[in-house]
Amino acid sequence: MGFFKQTINTVPLQGQTVLLRVDYNLPLNEDGTVADDFRVRASLPTVKKLLADGCKVVIISHLGRPDGKPNPKFTLEPAAARLAELLGEPVRFVDQTIGDKARMAVKRAPGRSVIVLENLRFDKREEENDPGFAKELAKTSGAGYFVQDGFGVVHRAHASTDAITMELPSVAGLLLEKECTTITKAMKSPERPLLAVLGGAKVSDKIGVIEALTGVADKIVIGGAMANTFLGYKGFSMGKSVREDDLNETIDRIYAAETKKVGKNVDEFIVLPTDVAVADAIDSTEKRRNVAVDSLALDDIALDIGDATIETFSRAVLEAKTVIWNGTLGYATLPEFAHGSARVALALATHPEITSVIGGGDTVDFVIDWDARKGASFSHVSTGGGASLELMAGKKLPGVESLLDAKR
Ligand code: 3PG
Repeated sequence: MGFFKQTINTVPLQGQTVLLRVDYNLPLNEDGTVADDFRVRASLPTVKKLLADGCKVVIISHLGRPDGKPNPKFTLEPAAARLAELLGEPVRFVDQTIGDKARMAVKRAPGRSVIVLENLRFDKREEENDPGFAKELAKTSGAGYFVQDGFGVVHRAHASTDAITMELPSVAGLLLEKECTTITKAMKSPERPLLAVLGGAKVSDKIGVIEALTGVADKIVIGGAMANTFLGYKGFSMGKSVREDDLNETIDRIYAAETKKVGKNVDEFIVLPTDVAVADAIDSTEKRRNVAVDSLALDDIALDIGDATIETFSRAVLEAKTVIWNGTLGYATLPEFAHGSARVALALATHPEITSVIGGGDTVDFVIDWDARKGASFSHVSTGGGASLELMAGKKLPGVESLLDAKR
């Protein structure tokens, strides 16, 4: 299954000025330095390929939600500095997004070079998908082509994902192509068995994905606070655990769809924890206590899957040929309650023959932090949170749809 859009490999970009949209929406430290450069590293193949083609690369991105006003807290300067370090080449940063100063800086830059413009969201017209702002972006860059490589933002119809494609011939970068083809293949034509590992805080954020996975996965295992909601639905008393209790109709629908597909033994296909690790509070000093799901005390807070469930879920991972993992299985920022997530990560990292597709902000943060190889131990760690969920749920992504169609 080929990618259905033109890419930087299918159009003649040699020596061109290219406007490149990336997603450098990075977590920053208190002192403004980059706390996690995963998205910058993920953009390198496209930047390097464009430089190898002798392009002048004008990079645009958003960072945070500055509400349409300039705000030094959200400047892209640290991201530009990190890009320069990773590339091992100078990167020019311009503290304007559009206008004469930025245009002159781009013009003066040498033929094969990288320029990063200031945060797109310092102008409210970016999020309004304003055609005038898109026109100014195109003019400022003087580009002959627009390249979309910000997978994390293509679920938004903004000026730099949608309106800009009316101004310049627009194609996909290598990261966008990889994200779309990998996630689509895992959902549409995976090597089976396909296991979905789902967790995180909320069922309500992921209903579309759960329903899509119910249709395609051979088995779904559920942990995290999401499992509390399912266990509550099943009638277990979950003590003081985080759960959503207004989703019975949705869960009815999920079980009805799965029962229609697999017949009576639906609990073998949607697998819930049989035990959980609980504590009295969400605190780094708390120790985990293992309890069966029918034995939680009124004050217990479930913060991880339990030891028996960890074994069940790890076995399920090892029986799969493809694993789609979205959502941590416990309160994984506290090591005491990260055991379940760590065991799934370990099973995947030590079995590279299992194709792993990992998405969702917290899950990605967890595996990157857990993995000494910063995510390279897995087949695919997605740079998109909302975008990967929407793609998995089968939704069309405006920032992809608007690109030039591949030639047949
Ligand atoms: C993300 O981090 O999910 C993307 O950069 C999109 O950011 P947004 O949710 O602020 O649009």
